[in-house]
Amino acid sequence: MTLYRDGVFSDFHRAPNIADHPDVYERENEAIDPDGRLWRALRERADWAGRTVLDLGCGTGFWLPRYAVDAAEAIGVEPDPDLLVRAAERGTVRHGSAEHIPLADASVDVVHARFAYFFPPGCDAGLAEVRRVLRPGGTLVVIDNDGRRGEFADLLTASPWASAQWTADTTDAWWRERGAERTEVMASWRCRDAAELEAVLRIEFPGDVVDGWVRANPGRRELSYGYVLFTVTA
Ligand SMILES: C[S@@+](CC[C@H](N)C(=O)[O-])C[C@H]1O[C@@H](n2cnc3c(N)ncnc32)[C@H](O)[C@@H]1O
Repeated sequence: MTLYRDGVFSDFHRAPNIADHPDVYERENEAIDPDGRLWRALRERADWAGRTVLDLGCGTGFWLPRYAVDAAEAIGVEPDPDLLVRAAERGTVRHGSAEHIPLADASVDVVHARFAYFFPPGCDAGLAEVRRVLRPGGTLVVIDNDGRRGEFADLLTASPWASAQWTADTTDAWWRERGAERTEVMASWRCRDAAELEAVLRIEFPGDVVDGWVRANPGRRELSYGYVLFTVTA
């Protein structure tokens, strides 16, 4: 099997939301945890203070400086070469992917994968690779959408793009079979204004789905948003 050819990892799936719209995705990242609920839940699952944390599929590296505030080391791994260039301006990064992590065995304490790679089924190779780089007792936390709770879940249900990639039942069953702990975090997306929320929604959902939501919710700059965290300890 060819693992890496012409600069492309075999498991790389280009993410159009961030790859085609990196500046709008910045606004999304700024909006997704306005009250710090996700951040607190991540700390509770596996605190990275004084430890080595890997942001797997780090995109433009938005979260790297935030981890670096108190991590011993924060490393981003990203397969998209264009996004990698941006991430390199923010922190320590390596070109790699979930199935090809360019780090030594047992060298990382905490791995986060935010909306990256782990869209079950078909993720066992990446999970094995994460287990390889985790130190004994280290933790993987996968940050996923809650497909059942919150207004964002309603948009996911209405979107053929989302259902082509992912279903909540398949995801839950896959992680359960692998012994993951499941944690729900209800939060919201809060943008600076309605135009910004609409712009962000347009990189995530087809135009007609967003049109319908905007028509039904004029002037809104916030929507309710559920996260699900899947935690695996090595
Ligand atoms: C929706 S973006 C999220 C980016 C970043 N985690 C964030 O929250 O800002 C998904 C990311 O996963 C990356 N990706 C695609 N295939 C991957 C793979 N096989 N392993 C790791 N990351 C992958 C994409 O290039 C993209 O940067």
